[in-house]
Amino acid sequence: MARVFSGIQPTGEIHLGNYLGAVRRWVATQHDDDALYCIVDLHALTVPKDPTELRAKILELAQVLVAAGLDPEVVTLFAQSHVAEHTELGWVMECTASFGELRRMTQFKEKAERSEFVSAGLFTYPALMAADILLYDTEKVPVGDDQRQHLELARDLAVRFNSRYGETFVVPEAAIPPVAARVMDLQDPRRKMSKSVDSPQGTVLVLDEPKVIERKFKRAVTDSESEVRYDPEAKPGVSNLVAILAAATDRDPHEVAAGYTQYGPLKADTAEAVIELLRPLQERFAELAADPAETARILAMGAEKARKTASATMVRVRDRLGLPPL
Ligand code: AMP
Ligand code: TRP
Repeated sequence: MARVFSGIQPTGEIHLGNYLGAVRRWVATQHDDDALYCIVDLHALTVPKDPTELRAKILELAQVLVAAGLDPEVVTLFAQSHVAEHTELGWVMECTASFGELRRMTQFKEKAERSEFVSAGLFTYPALMAADILLYDTEKVPVGDDQRQHLELARDLAVRFNSRYGETFVVPEAAIPPVAARVMDLQDPRRKMSKSVDSPQGTVLVLDEPKVIERKFKRAVTDSESEVRYDPEAKPGVSNLVAILAAATDRDPHEVAAGYTQYGPLKADTAEAVIELLRPLQERFAELAADPAETARILAMGAEKARKTASATMVRVRDRLGLPPL
């Protein structure tokens, strides 16, 4: 079984892109891999957050992940801040990365340009991300294309540490899903559906009520033709609907497109398929949300499992570095 690790930030709301592109795959492969899924609450602190809101978002994200079908008895689901070794190895990674390397990270450049307060943590964020991954002897990291550069850095840091101090870390590989796994914004189908872009009508949230989902699909931007065809370049809006319907019903997009001659029925059927796809998640979520103590228990259990591996790695790292044993 391959050791798999991925992290997700407890910010914004989980949307259909997160679900189809990431979470659903995690659920589908949970029995094949030895996987850890981490709610990266420390990463969320790189941008100032309201404590009450952050507290609620961490619980909500855990509940969505479990409601989506991640079994906390099978995978290790935990909060980053519960395992102190993340910060400890994070510091070591900050001392392994160079200033110039971190300065070249495009996500930092983009975020720094957009914010008036740029924390030092925003700058060193990729070092903490490398620590997250390297703590668990991770072989595969399922992430979106946007994280490719951060993952390259994690690999470079592992290799550099190993050559300075002797074999310590497994060098991880990125597992980037095929392009077809990109869900686009319903109002602006040339842009991917995203937590950070403000497009409430173009973003389908996994916790949206059926009526709301129906309305968002009804108003989805298409084009002025009337032919249903799967052609993301020429017909991004229609192709996004076709791709969503295909993904939701496990079919091929071309085959789905062949079944329609008009946009109206395509929109209606896509909405219905998404509502049905999300129904069990929403029902399960309602149960979990009613019992926050159970979620706290799940996270505590995950942290305990994670800590076992993380603390063993830190014993090795301390020894390699010449730090006194605990
Ligand atoms: P983020 O929302 O950026 O924290 O991403 C969480 C996970 O969802 C990552 O693995 C992303 O690759 C994936 N993801 C985010 N947006 C989309 C999208 N529009 N389509 C497919 N996958 C996505
Ligand atoms: N940086 C990732 C994102 O913004 C989240 C993340 C933090 C992560 N640590 C990780 C992803 C470790 C994979 C592995 O989406």
